[in-house]
Amino acid sequence: MNIVISDAIKYIGVDDTTIDLFESQYIVPEGVSYNSYLILDERVALMDTVDKRGMEDWEQKLLAALNGRSVDYLIMQHLEPDHSGSIARLMELFPNVTLVGNAKTFQMLPQFFEHIDLTNTLTVKENDTLSLGSHTLQFIMAPMVHWPEVMVTYEQSEKVLFTADGFGKFGALSLTEGVDWACEARRYYFNIVGKYGGPVQTLLKKASALDIQTICPLHGPILSENLAYYFDLYNTWSSYTPENQGVLIAYASIHGNTAAAAERLGEMLRNKGVEKVVVSDLAREDMAEVIEDAFRYDRMILCAASYDAGVFPPMQDFLQHLQTKAYQNRKVGILENGSWAPSAGRTIKAALETMKGIEIVEPIVTIKSTMKESDLPAIEALSDAFVS
Ligand code: FEO
Repeated sequence: MNIVISDAIKYIGVDDTTIDLFESQYIVPEGVSYNSYLILDERVALMDTVDKRGMEDWEQKLLAALNGRSVDYLIMQHLEPDHSGSIARLMELFPNVTLVGNAKTFQMLPQFFEHIDLTNTLTVKENDTLSLGSHTLQFIMAPMVHWPEVMVTYEQSEKVLFTADGFGKFGALSLTEGVDWACEARRYYFNIVGKYGGPVQTLLKKASALDIQTICPLHGPILSENLAYYFDLYNTWSSYTPENQGVLIAYASIHGNTAAAAERLGEMLRNKGVEKVVVSDLAREDMAEVIEDAFRYDRMILCAASYDAGVFPPMQDFLQHLQTKAYQNRKVGILENGSWAPSAGRTIKAALETMKGIEIVEPIVTIKSTMKESDLPAIEALSDAFVS
């Protein structure tokens, strides 16, 4: 597909539609794109390379766009291998290229490329500029969005912000044209960058001082219209503010009895007019999608079977993901199941107590093996506490 940015700025990224798991953990039913851009001026700058999975495709696009010219500068905004994977090949093609990065970039680079030639390098820091002719690159440090060496780049003449992983999205560009941006951008954000809300807020503040007409991320579509929409969403997400009112019920059920209680709870909430109720099976559904929903909504109820004096592992796994991704500032209820000595509730509660700003709704509801008529008043009371 032909993606046009401007006469001078060319998209030379590639789609990966055959990868099984992005970062060996995220399903990407519509693939992913590794974006790379070329700025053609008196001097030529390349904005990142691509994962080695897409290297051959990318090389063809690069050489076609160059039309016989050479790359003068490689701007390394992020060294994770989905963007640095073709650096060695680039240096074979253009041995005189100047590598541009910050101090952390050059600390990390030899870890990935042991024998890399560091003869031609340019180390940049906050707000340093690099003139290409009529285009000027301004470098803005963005540590921990998503790694410590990350920087973003503002091209001053065309007002383009190259945002590294920021504003990235799952989905190959050829398979997701015209598709809603937020759904897969949100799943990407909370699972990949979500832990680093503070650094994202810092970057957003820096970006607010710039006049930006186009956002060029390293994954997903180029954004050039209604940019306030994307900035607003990123501000909501990175400040851990719920995006929507609603309740996520996430359950981990061994034989279906805890699942039945979770579904019943969902039905009660819907009958009480709760804006949005999502019920998710942690043993079977995409964990990344459930994490996304946990951050998206303002309330959550966790339902789980007891297991080995703790909690059924899919819930343990979910709790660990929530901890890692800095889940916070939400109201959470607990329903546990146990056939003898129930232990799920206290295990869940102990994990939630390690997280910031979590309001745990008491009491924990306990069912024994199966949900019975006699359990319904307690489940009803739990649902009442989640009607906003
Ligand atoms: Fe797309 Fe953090 O790499």
